Amino acid sequence: MIQSNSIKTDVLVIGSGIAGLSLALKLADKHAVTLLAKAALSEGSTQYAQGGIAGVLDPFDSIDSHLNDTLEAGAGLCDPEVVRLVTEQASHSIQELIELGVPFSRCEGDQCNYPFHLTQEGGHSHRRVIHAADHTGLSIVDTLVQKVLLHSNITVLPEHISIDLILNQKRDRCIGAYVLNKNNETVTDIWADFTVLATGGASKAYLYTSNPDTSTGDGIAMAWRAGCKVGNMEFNQFHPTCLFHPKDRSFLISEAVRGEGGILRLPNGHAFMPEYHERADLAPRDVVARAIDHEMKKHGIDCVYLDITHLEREQIMHHFPTIYERCFKAGIDICTQQIPVVPAAHYTCGGIVTNMQGKSSLNGLYAIGEAAYTGLHGANRLASNSLVEGLVFAEMAKRSIEQAYLKGVTNLEVPKAWDSSRVTDPKEKVLVTHDWDELRRVMWDYVGIVRTDKRLKRARQRIRNLKREINEYYNEHTVYSDLLELRNLVQVAELMVISAQRRKESRGLHYNLDYPKTKLKAKPTILKPKKAKFS
Ligand code: FAD
Ligand code: SIN
Repeated sequence: MIQSNSIKTDVLVIGSGIAGLSLALKLADKHAVTLLAKAALSEGSTQYAQGGIAGVLDPFDSIDSHLNDTLEAGAGLCDPEVVRLVTEQASHSIQELIELGVPFSRCEGDQCNYPFHLTQEGGHSHRRVIHAADHTGLSIVDTLVQKVLLHSNITVLPEHISIDLILNQKRDRCIGAYVLNKNNETVTDIWADFTVLATGGASKAYLYTSNPDTSTGDGIAMAWRAGCKVGNMEFNQFHPTCLFHPKDRSFLISEAVRGEGGILRLPNGHAFMPEYHERADLAPRDVVARAIDHEMKKHGIDCVYLDITHLEREQIMHHFPTIYERCFKAGIDICTQQIPVVPAAHYTCGGIVTNMQGKSSLNGLYAIGEAAYTGLHGANRLASNSLVEGLVFAEMAKRSIEQAYLKGVTNLEVPKAWDSSRVTDPKEKVLVTHDWDELRRVMWDYVGIVRTDKRLKRARQRIRNLKREINEYYNEHTVYSDLLELRNLVQVAELMVISAQRRKESRGLHYNLDYPKTKLKAKPTILKPKKAKFS
């Protein structure tokens, strides 16, 4: 039987990636913050980020250029006001990281316009990506986690998974969340003035992904069940180049490799990208992923090859030490051999609808980072625009929460304790493991890089059945983390398919063979639940 207890905090931040860690640090001088992570504090997509953070840092670059590149990648669906906000704020947010001590790679030699090295990635018309070699995310997380652990006003709860948001009696305000501890023994109701979902994306919905296990769309599913709007869920980004190795877990080969001159080739050595886009290997990500998918299908091959052998060994070791080492362990010396690569699910462009302050459509609830749909990415995210979005919206949410406190917020309603009296311990868990596999395969096969109406219809039917089964199991059994994640993932998968079915055109990351054209008028897909879906 699960025990229950209760905690009160000012601000509950769920998620310890770049978005959650930054916000916790920004708020903690004035407010008590409780910071949750369902795994170790450092685990999440952020720590695997390689390429870097985009921002206008070079004096010869311009905000307008970053803005236009973002709008172009977003294929007509970005919110220009949000793009302006992020591109304008980026350099300030990056400067804060520099001041916190993130060890970004320095520019060397006499050709430097800026003290730190700036790399280039697909879709950018200027070098504007600041990085720490190819382990940018790890360096950021290490720095932020250290600061968070030293802050006396931040209570850190790693290995605690939130189950659902708690609403007030009128069901128009979020007053915290139910949280399960590591050993599945205790559910704590965390009572908060403000709750922030910084739970990352949902790319684990797909069989092959560059993401860690934490990316199960928990925040998006929780917000949906609590009655929040979600937007643009059909736009899941596939990164063109993940290491293809039959025995290895998916590992990203950064776009910065192409930024430094890497070329995609067929097994016979032919460089095919110039046939697809004027920017060739540095075309926007959706174009490159679709081109690879097309070439693989046309030639019946398992992968294509990324060739960086034109660089000196020393340059490769200096700029791409992590990639070098990982490939070397897989038996590939990238200084002399081409890297076998395939596309894999990488980034959730849609998410919980938020405004320019990071507020969701539910009072008291914010969403920041990959879990949010701010309007920045539109139909396709520009490379390295995600870390920066997390930073900028942490700042916006902090300002909004501080303003709300100035106006005087008192959250008097006490949450009900978690009730587990009507469930029993599961006798077998095979349904959960089976459904995990089935769901991810359905999504990969039917809701992937290239879609059709028939495939989407098939996916919708399978997912509907899986969802019914999983919800029945959830209602009857004591909760545990795999079950909670699966419940969230099936919900998010359903939202992705419904959104994909609604879009009767091809745009950005959403490509449907039955509607290959792009409509003249671009409209986001906003879904709203009929009512909050839990008691
Ligand atoms: P995450 O970093 O994913 O963190 C999510 C947090 O939420 C984790 O702490 C997790 O434990 C917690 N969590 C989730 N659910 C729950 C729950 N139910 N209860 C409690 N805690 C929960 N972007 C760039 O801009 N530049 C790059 O170079 C780049 N490279 C990338 C490379 C890889 C391999 C990957 C996977 C992504 C990359 N991205 C990059 C994308 C970027 O890293 C992510 O979009 C970004 O880090 C997301 O940050 P976040 O704070 O929103 O979430
Ligand atoms: C990469 O390094 O290729 C990932 C960059 C990103 O996802 O923004």
